[in-house]
Amino acid sequence: MLNKLLITGANGGLGSVCRERLTHLAKTVRVSARKDLGNAAAHEEIVYCDLADKDAVEAMVHGCDGIVHMGGQATEANWDTIRAANIDGMFNLYEAARKSPVTPRIIFASSNHAIGFHEQTERLDAKSPTRPDGLYGVSKVFGEAMASMYYDKFGIETASIRIGSCFPEPINHRMLSTWMSYDDFVLLIERIFMVPRLGCPIIYGASANSASWWDNREVGYIGWTPKDNAEAFRAKIDAAMSPPSADDVTARLQGGAFCADGIHE
Ligand SMILES: NC(=O)c1ccc[n+]([C@@H]2O[C@H](COP(=O)([O-])OP(=O)(O)OC[C@H]3O[C@@H](n4cnc5c(N)ncnc54)[C@H](O)[C@@H]3O)[C@@H](O)[C@H]2O)c1
Repeated sequence: MLNKLLITGANGGLGSVCRERLTHLAKTVRVSARKDLGNAAAHEEIVYCDLADKDAVEAMVHGCDGIVHMGGQATEANWDTIRAANIDGMFNLYEAARKSPVTPRIIFASSNHAIGFHEQTERLDAKSPTRPDGLYGVSKVFGEAMASMYYDKFGIETASIRIGSCFPEPINHRMLSTWMSYDDFVLLIERIFMVPRLGCPIIYGASANSASWWDNREVGYIGWTPKDNAEAFRAKIDAAMSPPSADDVTARLQGGAFCADGIHE
């Protein structure tokens, strides 16, 4: 069991799931966001923090032995926004981890948009080259590189999860390949904190989807066996919409519509 688990972005979509469902992992859970965290539960501490504020991040990370880093810009945006949250924010987080009296084990919410320009016909594993599909995807590649460097140089362990689409259920045909259920997401986080030696793996964050493009065999040692399969929702999706045509970007490239998005000025 962890002593103090930090959850960043704790008022966001996935941060809220973590706040609700990871209470058993630590004696104290420190929840953080820029605003709107409500009241602290008995096992919680609330810390308001902008990831771009170096001193505030240092105070937020201080003394935590586990970090679930869900905070950050979570879609494509202009460079200033991406840089503040996902570039400066990641540097601040790792510097804070390096300086903290307790070395934390970190989970970094990376993204499928780090590899978005691969064709959907390709099967990827952790060694596949990154092919980011926008500034957001580039920032996730940067985050993975930060994790790698702080592991090699300082021994700080991070699991970078290239999250596909983590929502209550898949809602379009692309998500039949990329969906990760909340249950499988929580199981993965549990395993990452339980495994004796983590290292610095890249993990594809998707359920056991029959239509998956991703191969997680390299991280078998983590002992994560996702239970759900987006295929259970195929009939519902087919009834709601026609599948995209074969030349549509959402049917061709792994990053889908992000690949067709321009630069946000
Ligand atoms: N939900 C998914 O399917 C999915 C897929 C791929 C990657 N991810 C990644 O997972 C993480 C969580 O995603 P989400 O869907 O919960 O997104 P979200 O937008 O709901 O939550 C992100 C949180 O980060 C906070 N945040 C943004 N900029 C910040 C800053 N400068 N300082 C402090 N906090 C800041 C937001 O206020 C919010 O609380 C993100 O890093 C995202 O890139 C999510």
